[in-house]
Amino acid sequence: MASICVVGAGHAGLVTAACFAELGHRVSCLDVNLRKLEALQQGTIPFFEPGLEEMVRHNLATRRLSFTADYREGVEGKGSIFIAVNTPSSPGGRTDLRYLYAAAREVARTMDEGSIVVIKSTVPVGTTEGVGGLLAAERGGVVPMVFNPEFLSEGTAIEEFMKPARIIIGSGDLSAAEAIAELHDGLESPIVICSLRSAELIKYAHNAFLATRISFINEIASICEGTGADVRVVSRALGLDSTLGQAYLKAGLGWGGSCLPKDMRSLIYMAKANKAPCQVLKAVVKTNNRQRATAVEKLRSLLGSLEGRVVGLLGLAFKPNTEDVREAPSLEVIRLLEAAGSLIKAYDPKAMSACAQLYPRLTCCSDPYELAQGCDALLLVTEWEEFKHLDMPRIRSLMKQPIFVDGRNLFEPEEMARWGFIYRGIGLGFPALPVAVGVRA
Ligand code: NAD
Ligand code: UGA
Repeated sequence: MASICVVGAGHAGLVTAACFAELGHRVSCLDVNLRKLEALQQGTIPFFEPGLEEMVRHNLATRRLSFTADYREGVEGKGSIFIAVNTPSSPGGRTDLRYLYAAAREVARTMDEGSIVVIKSTVPVGTTEGVGGLLAAERGGVVPMVFNPEFLSEGTAIEEFMKPARIIIGSGDLSAAEAIAELHDGLESPIVICSLRSAELIKYAHNAFLATRISFINEIASICEGTGADVRVVSRALGLDSTLGQAYLKAGLGWGGSCLPKDMRSLIYMAKANKAPCQVLKAVVKTNNRQRATAVEKLRSLLGSLEGRVVGLLGLAFKPNTEDVREAPSLEVIRLLEAAGSLIKAYDPKAMSACAQLYPRLTCCSDPYELAQGCDALLLVTEWEEFKHLDMPRIRSLMKQPIFVDGRNLFEPEEMARWGFIYRGIGLGFPALPVAVGVRA
């Protein structure tokens, strides 16, 4: 059993802290947000993440997990200190490292001699060396530094921490790297030990590759629409080849969230700063931005004009199983519809209040049926599982016009047509045909 401090109780930090405690370590999780800490000390999680609240409560009860705002209490006596604070992007794409450096200064003041400092936040290449330099200067001696990126996705975070595809440990100090590798004993995943700089770039390359796959399939979707092909069949068939794989090939309104967009900006900034070409990365971002506008254009072409029309948004979160709306496609859709003079209603199982704070003119509904009432059109933005089980004929009967744009291809076009909807998906050649081909084993 090791003693660990995790600085930052956000999505990445809290999951790391709870999972290390679950693996048997003694973990102190530190944050400067006192309201968040108070809730956590009572076992209440400030965001939605399946299974996390139970895990936090269990480990609070066993006393393997504790929360504090006090750096001395959190850091002293810990063999490794993980820093998992936010690293947002500033205008222009440069990563804002002020929270990381503020945390590092506090760690320098309170850490024991010989403790290992691990950066978990996603940071530009060279940052861990920079933080190591600051720590060495403040403490008057070299501090063992490790970069250990996190690859979890919101909504499936615990499973991804406990069963990672691989664990990346970057360091110039092999014994520090091995000590951090040992903390993961019990996880059956390959461990890659490499230089700090390679580890930092692996994290950006991972996220950029996911974003690239999504923008690629969205471009293919546009070609499908022009040619009468069906992107659902195309991506299914691509994915059957193991060299391509099925993941991140769903066409739709594109990628959002707190990580992919900021990490793409940061990587492009790094490429430019190093005079490296980044045409592919820039095109990936451009295609993604276009997806939101394309969905609004579909509504405009079906409605004639958007002005004064009542449009209902099914889903607001950047993806299902989260209440997170940071850089969610819904935000840009709302902005475009408001600019066009539409009246916007919305329903999301978890993200209503986060979105209403950003757009006070949004009419928030308590369920999808209240949403459908009087709508000229519905636009499905987030593919929540519960939307699959809606009483669609009832939805249809409540609407003023039966127009349905499915931004995530959740529904079967043929069935929607049978229920009387004028239906458009993404990348479904017009007129949308049923998926006539199955996959034979
Ligand atoms: P977040 O904004 O949800 O949480 C960050 C936390 O750090 C906040 O609670 C904040 O109060 C705290 N904090 C800020 N400055 C602090 C300081 N000086 N001392 C102590 N606490 C401080 O961020 P997040 O989503 O957890 O992301 C954190 C990092 O992890 C980012 O670099 C992100 O790119 C990376 N990451 C996030 C995810 C994810 O799914 N959210 C996945 C992988 C990697
Ligand atoms: C993403 C990565 O998946 C994680 O590996 C990484 O650790 C994390 O960023 C991070 O660095 O923080 P997350 O932001 O939780 O995780 O979201 P994803 O599940 O990757 O989805 C991102 C966006 O892509 C969502 O808006 C989703 O709707 C969209 N998406 C995803 C598609 O449009 N099509 C797909 O096929 C898959």
